[in-house]
Amino acid sequence: MNLLLPVLLSLSAAISGCHGEGEASAKPNIIIILIDDMGFNDVSFHGSNQILTPNIDALAYNGILLNRHYVPNLCTPSRATLLTGKYPIHTGMQHFVIVTDEPWGLPRQERLMPELFRDAGYATHLVGKWHLGFWRKDLTPTMRGFDHHFGYYNGYMDYYDQTVRMLDRNYSTGLDFRRDLEPCREAEGTYATEAFTTEARKVIERHDKSRPLFMVLSHLAVHTGNEDNPMQAPEEEVAKFAHIRDPKRRTYAGMISSLDKSVGQTMRALADNGMLNNSIVLLYSDNGAPTVGIHSNAGSNYPFRGQRGYVSNQAIHAIDWLPTLAAAAGVSLPSDLRLDGLNLWPSLSASAQPQPRNLLHVLDDVFGYSSYTQDTLKYVNGSSFEGRYDHWLGELEDGEEDPNSKDYGQLVRASEVQAVLGSVAPTDDRIRQMRDEATQRCPIQERDPEDPVYLCEPLKAACLFDLANDPCERYNLANLYPLQLQLLAQEVEELRLTALPSARVPRADVRADPALHDGHWEWWNNTLPGSSAAALPPSGPWLWLCLFNIALSFIVFIS
Ligand SMILES: *[C@@H]1O[C@H](CO)[C@@H](O)[C@H](O)[C@H]1NC(C)=O
Ligand SMILES: *[C@@H]1O[C@H](CO)[C@@H](O)[C@H](O)[C@H]1NC(C)=O
Ligand SMILES: *[C@@H]1O[C@H](CO)[C@@H](O)[C@H](O)[C@H]1NC(C)=O
Ligand SMILES: *[C@@H]1O[C@H](CO)[C@@H](O)[C@H](O)[C@H]1NC(C)=O
Repeated sequence: MNLLLPVLLSLSAAISGCHGEGEASAKPNIIIILIDDMGFNDVSFHGSNQILTPNIDALAYNGILLNRHYVPNLCTPSRATLLTGKYPIHTGMQHFVIVTDEPWGLPRQERLMPELFRDAGYATHLVGKWHLGFWRKDLTPTMRGFDHHFGYYNGYMDYYDQTVRMLDRNYSTGLDFRRDLEPCREAEGTYATEAFTTEARKVIERHDKSRPLFMVLSHLAVHTGNEDNPMQAPEEEVAKFAHIRDPKRRTYAGMISSLDKSVGQTMRALADNGMLNNSIVLLYSDNGAPTVGIHSNAGSNYPFRGQRGYVSNQAIHAIDWLPTLAAAAGVSLPSDLRLDGLNLWPSLSASAQPQPRNLLHVLDDVFGYSSYTQDTLKYVNGSSFEGRYDHWLGELEDGEEDPNSKDYGQLVRASEVQAVLGSVAPTDDRIRQMRDEATQRCPIQERDPEDPVYLCEPLKAACLFDLANDPCERYNLANLYPLQLQLLAQEVEELRLTALPSARVPRADVRADPALHDGHWEWWNNTLPGSSAAALPPSGPWLWLCLFNIALSFIVFIS
């Protein structure tokens, strides 16, 4: 889970698709590369020269770089949102993450993206992290629409031995690694990023090319490992960052470097297997210090009308991926899904003007924390973790630029990703321009952010920010524009009326102890699908309320 930066949730991501001529009717392969907890400033396409990420950046410069991509602020809600197309308040997943020994998970009645894509003919694979519950067998990935899973159930594990330790409990250490439902030790000792990359390559190689592939490559990186050994990266990767003084950050850079290599290798596998010409690759971080993103492919026309990658300032949220990818793939969705997300494919693929959106970022009445944007006006009320992380964290040290950054453009052009994309490599000017557009700056302003008029203390009173002029959220305007604040508060209130109670069961269940399960983290309830199908929640008024809310600010897209 990520505990950083609960106030600002903005991430960027990039997506790209590319179809060959002729076979445009074949459903595209969909590859979602989900990074865990990566910060906005931890990739070089956002402007930093400290940790260079040439593969990820090459994806960004060749694809659509999503400059305003929002995700929920914690692992479990973020992953639930991606797979359901709904806000966490509409699935009960809004509060916190699933702690290893807690008996809850993403409710069974939710139909998930892999299930819907499988019904449309896709082979579905999850490689890596789940974190949507495993206390009951019927909550695990292969019971939720994935044909196969190779990876782990919890929020994190050791990068090498794949164990999870709960230091604050008297449990034995447990292995958390499986192939489908079977505990598996075949990747033991291999660095997690490499193990998952190897598996993803195998999935691609063995994939029956007459069918489309839906794969979520859900990395452990760059999350920490167990609390007693959190920072783990291969020595040879860490060694590339002698210019970073802080040893912890240096190891973190090694984690990222390994991940960047993985992106190149995964793209290479798609190309070598003749699949890249009909693939949509989406890369983002589940949450983070605002994060990263990337991706994609040019080289051929559809659906980008022959144009090169571009930077999109369309506000897009993790709720949107299910309907957006379904539309891109021609997957028809059941009409009763009650999604919160919108299909933004027409807008993204035609590089349309950004449309204003109203988006809910957090509504957690257990923490007493809510955050909402009406286009570029942001409302924040309350906080999580008593506000301990609400600062501007992680400012980079001066003088720690990677010496290779003088040849940055060349490095990007020489990346594996650029090689396999085979498209016209971006020039230095083009790179400079896109990088500049993707770099967040805090505008210099005359006003004093310490002035009590502007001070934001969200635990005492709600704050209001004008992100268009103050993206760094330094000036709280609540005192100056109380009516505006009330309007946003009212919209949050309407959403609150639609919320389901939190599904979290915040208690340790000692039946989780790996000592009781042959040394594994494993379900302690054998319920199987069908045997306890929970009733659908009553269809209350939330559906129309929610649509009303969106309709207020949203204009229909025309392709
Ligand atoms: C993609 O390339 C492969 C191998 O070259 C080819 O068989 C396939 O028809 C191409 N697909 C599309 C959609 O162009
Ligand atoms: C762990 O065991 C010790 C010794 O029996 C006990 O004092 C402690 O309360 C236990 N801790 C938990 C979290 O159960
Ligand atoms: C902020 O949250 C508190 C506690 O939930 C609530 O009482 C208050 O009305 C909220 N303020 C605004 C302006 O929405
Ligand atoms: C297993 O889960 C089902 C559904 O939540 C519940 O009804 C049942 O009591 C559980 N069984 C055990 C042994 O916990």
